[in-house]
Amino acid sequence: MHDLDEFTVTEAALTQMANTPDARLKQIMDAAVRHLHAFAREVNLTPAEWLKGITFLTEVGHMCTPIRAEFILLSDVMGLSALVNALHDKTAPEKGTDTSLLGPFYREGAPQLKPGDSILSETAAPEIVLYGRVLDAGGQGIPDATVQVWQTNEHGQYDLQARSSEQMDMRGCFTTDADGNYHFRTVRPLGYMVPMDGPVGKLVRAQGRHGYRPSHIHFLVGAAGYRELVTALYFADDDHIDSDTVFGVSRSLVVSAKADPQAPLDLPAVRYDFRLSRAAEAGESRVGADPSKIVKAAE
Ligand code: BEZ
Ligand code: FE
Repeated sequence: MHDLDEFTVTEAALTQMANTPDARLKQIMDAAVRHLHAFAREVNLTPAEWLKGITFLTEVGHMCTPIRAEFILLSDVMGLSALVNALHDKTAPEKGTDTSLLGPFYREGAPQLKPGDSILSETAAPEIVLYGRVLDAGGQGIPDATVQVWQTNEHGQYDLQARSSEQMDMRGCFTTDADGNYHFRTVRPLGYMVPMDGPVGKLVRAQGRHGYRPSHIHFLVGAAGYRELVTALYFADDDHIDSDTVFGVSRSLVVSAKADPQAPLDLPAVRYDFRLSRAAEAGESRVGADPSKIVKAAE
């Protein structure tokens, strides 16, 4: 028995957890306790503030549904999702295209489309074409790679927000040809605010932040034997290109749509080649998990 104070309580908690049989669980929980205790000491956390934090996390949990991943959003706006992605990228055996956040709007089962198809069922906005190749780290085209795409419409809404039904739109799945080529038609998406009507949005506002993501198109690119690539392309002229609320923009992912005589269609074009690293190990787990499955898995 020893006296507990604001320092010895940390040691006491670590001692009680010391026999955790799962070594990785032990490592993670040890570090979590040490850092959480240090954080509370650093800010001199009061009981009222601690309760406010617990209430906030409870509200975040209550907000979660299969189409609203509020905990992921919390991780995103604090830069934690971008940090975890960066750590994961360092484990790739080869340098591939820079990654970016998956975000909460990815859905499995997007319609399989043919080269040159539009990913929108209807639009009044001018079309653009995206084209390029999926390459390995040595620059060889990868045939039969899967290129999944999803984006907002010209009003900044994903299908789940623009429609009352769950019908998929503004998303599609393409397969590269024998040389690794892909191309599809779309419209320029509008940037949008991350969902701001919940506890995370309240926090973002309280921090004086605008809440916007710059205009972007999401990609999930995969091929047998290669590490799955989760990324997005960002449009250079968006006002929020340098202040993305969720820290997804890297310089190498910034594009513009312009006249391009080499484009496969006579439309303003974005050309982008994706590079895939070989998988670190056979059967490497998927990076692009459908967020709607989190709530179902927890039930
Ligand atoms: C998205 O790009 O879809 C997204 C990412 C993080 C938070 C909200 C939206
Ligand atoms: Fe997005």
